[in-house]
Amino acid sequence: MQREIYVPPTGPPQEPIIPKETFQILGEEKIRRLVHNFYKKLETSEIRNMFPKNMEESAEKSADFMVQVLGGPPLYSMKYGPPRMRARHLPFIIDEKARRIWLGCYRQALNESDIPEEQKELIWKFLVNFSAWMVNTKG
Ligand code: HEM
Repeated sequence: MQREIYVPPTGPPQEPIIPKETFQILGEEKIRRLVHNFYKKLETSEIRNMFPKNMEESAEKSADFMVQVLGGPPLYSMKYGPPRMRARHLPFIIDEKARRIWLGCYRQALNESDIPEEQKELIWKFLVNFSAWMVNTKG
């Protein structure tokens, strides 16, 4: 049966709300540690089975993307081309429930991180906003 793709009425996320200096303030290490801890949370989450068995490569890709988004070098685009994140997520069935679980894992990882509160808030707002655009299935 043909799968029905849901398009969030809010459309693509608006221009980046993250100041470029964020990368300078945090440094690459803190960002990579955050993303790796997020993947640790995913390991025991209800959406674990959406991801490959070995998530090391997924975590590295995601960390490259976050470095880029937070104002660092465009590591993701250099290695994998244009992000086109919604398109890259289309093969996976992502509804609001999956989004909520995904965001929950990031919330925990942010809470455990030594990132300053101001930057935590910026990252959280970005993720809430951006993840809405990854939803492709009505729950
Ligand atoms: C809404 C909830 C989301 C779910 C359930 C989800 C799930 C997934 C899945 C299943 C994959 C493919 C497996 C993998 O290669 O790891 C993936 C890839 C990826 N996701 Fe998400 N994702 C979500 C939102 C996001 C958001 C908001 C971002 C960006 C901040 C993001 C960044 C990435 C990246 C960079 C990749 C690798 C893409 C590639 O090059 O193949 N995801 N995601």
